[in-house]
Amino acid sequence: MFQVVRQSKPPYRIREVDAQDDAVADILAELHHLTFFDGATIPDFEWGYWWLAYREAIPVAFAGVVPSTHVRNAGYICRVGVLKQHCGNRLQLRLMRATESRARRNGWSCMVSDTTRNIASANNFIRAGYRLQQPRYPWAFPDTLYWRKFLGPVSSLHGTYPKRL
Ligand SMILES: CC(C)(COP(=O)(O)OP(=O)(O)OC[C@H]1O[C@@H](n2cnc3c(N)ncnc32)[C@H](O)[C@@H]1OP(=O)(O)O)[C@@H](O)C(=O)NCCC(=O)NCCS
Repeated sequence: MFQVVRQSKPPYRIREVDAQDDAVADILAELHHLTFFDGATIPDFEWGYWWLAYREAIPVAFAGVVPSTHVRNAGYICRVGVLKQHCGNRLQLRLMRATESRARRNGWSCMVSDTTRNIASANNFIRAGYRLQQPRYPWAFPDTLYWRKFLGPVSSLHGTYPKRL
């Protein structure tokens, strides 16, 4: 009798990386190019916090967070990109969870971000517990969706919302 042996795929691993390191910055730039093409300007990787998702030793996705310039004491998820052949594995969600751990350690009270004409990404913000909000001074396009998630015990226990942005 033959037994069918299914080979399980190696897991993805997520690591916060030091983007001051030139080699790391090069990997981030390459992933940025392969996921955003010309759709977004290349960010300054020396600013903020950056993560890579690896399958075995191969980087396949990345994310970055910077302190928000619009919302006080908040982190802004400025980029998330997943190589097309690795899409569908919830890597954006896992990367966003990693960004939240960092934000909590930084003492930030919330996370904000935005999506424009991007249903897959918007669905991941919903999965991660973000809610839509309307900033007082919107910073992107007319059809941009703005996302916010409060961190820490006060908002999650009572669902109270500080003043409008
Ligand atoms: C948006 C993005 C980060 C989502 O990546 P992800 O972590 O793979 O997202 P998910 O695992 O939720 O998969 C997204 C969808 O793609 C689908 N999908 C599965 N395999 C896929 C493949 N090979 N190619 C494309 N999409 C695939 C999934 O079914 C899923 O659909 P669902 O939400 O209906 O379940 C990724 O598509 C990406 O990098 N896009 C380009 C850069 C970008 O737009 N970044 C976000 C800016 S706001």
